[in-house]
Amino acid sequence: MARILGVGIATLDIVNSVAAYPPEDAEVRARVQRVGRGGNCANSLVVLSQLGHDCAWGGVLADEPDAARITDDLNSYGIDLGPVRHLAHGKVPTSYITLNQQNGSRTIVHYRDLPEYRYEDFQTIDLSRFGWLHFEGRNIADTARMLELARASRPLTPRSVEIEKPRPGIEQLFPLATVLLFSRDYVHAQASSDPGYFLHDMHRRAPQADLVLAWGEAGAWALSRSGQLMHSPAFPPPQIVDTLGAGDTFNAGIIDALVRRLALTEALEAACRLAGRKCGHTGLNFVGQYA
Ligand code: ADP
Ligand code: FRU
Repeated sequence: MARILGVGIATLDIVNSVAAYPPEDAEVRARVQRVGRGGNCANSLVVLSQLGHDCAWGGVLADEPDAARITDDLNSYGIDLGPVRHLAHGKVPTSYITLNQQNGSRTIVHYRDLPEYRYEDFQTIDLSRFGWLHFEGRNIADTARMLELARASRPLTPRSVEIEKPRPGIEQLFPLATVLLFSRDYVHAQASSDPGYFLHDMHRRAPQADLVLAWGEAGAWALSRSGQLMHSPAFPPPQIVDTLGAGDTFNAGIIDALVRRLALTEALEAACRLAGRKCGHTGLNFVGQYA
């Protein structure tokens, strides 16, 4: 087990479950509504803490009532909020999510108007406490400086970076990570659709990193820093009920497996198994539950 620091966002998620995905301009009734905490980094930490890791979160919170939903939830998993930057004004990022009960698909409309976590905030954290550092690929200039600081001061501590969206300049993070966690959306945004081809291309830019690419119901691919390409199928549950946070769960599965010193090929399969189980449960509180 490790002490893991995650830097990224936590959100308020308003999730409406519908019988079928509505056409544009329709008016439909949600069958169920749940309101809770989300956010890629926070989701991954919540899963990692259920796997027994000691987690801390570095992100931004606004001083407003919805922030309590986020802090209450993270506290309930024992996640250390010491590195959080608190702002007197603003609104926590909010996602309006439509969950299709037919196939578990999630469609997200995200609203955000909150400053990002800064290098100055990160600089105050004692990195020697942590055995793994995980970052969302956002706020690129500051995140690059965080990664450089981590690399210089704790060269042996692994640094995973999630590359989910094609943000301007995000490639400058590639050489600074030891593990890069790509999404299918990112690959498509590069006008690519071939996982193997994409990963070999990325390997040229980040030869120092293990590269991982989740691909929904087709499982996931990885390319080790030594150049070995591998694939794991997905492990669908008996019924797919909720794919929200499947990618964040998958990332947690990779980090957990690599902390436990599994080989990359084993980590890939373990992460697909974990994310598959998640798809059979509503929400992220599933790890201790019977599969
Ligand atoms: P995101 O949540 O970012 O859209 P993906 O859709 O790529 O993430 O899914 C992440 C992982 O979750 C996949 O690699 C796979 O292992 C698992 N997964 C996602 N959708 C399914 C599904 N329909 N059946 C089984 N496993 C799935
Ligand atoms: C799921 C998720 C949601 C959040 C959105 C942020 O991966 O983290 O919980 O609202 O993505 O982009």
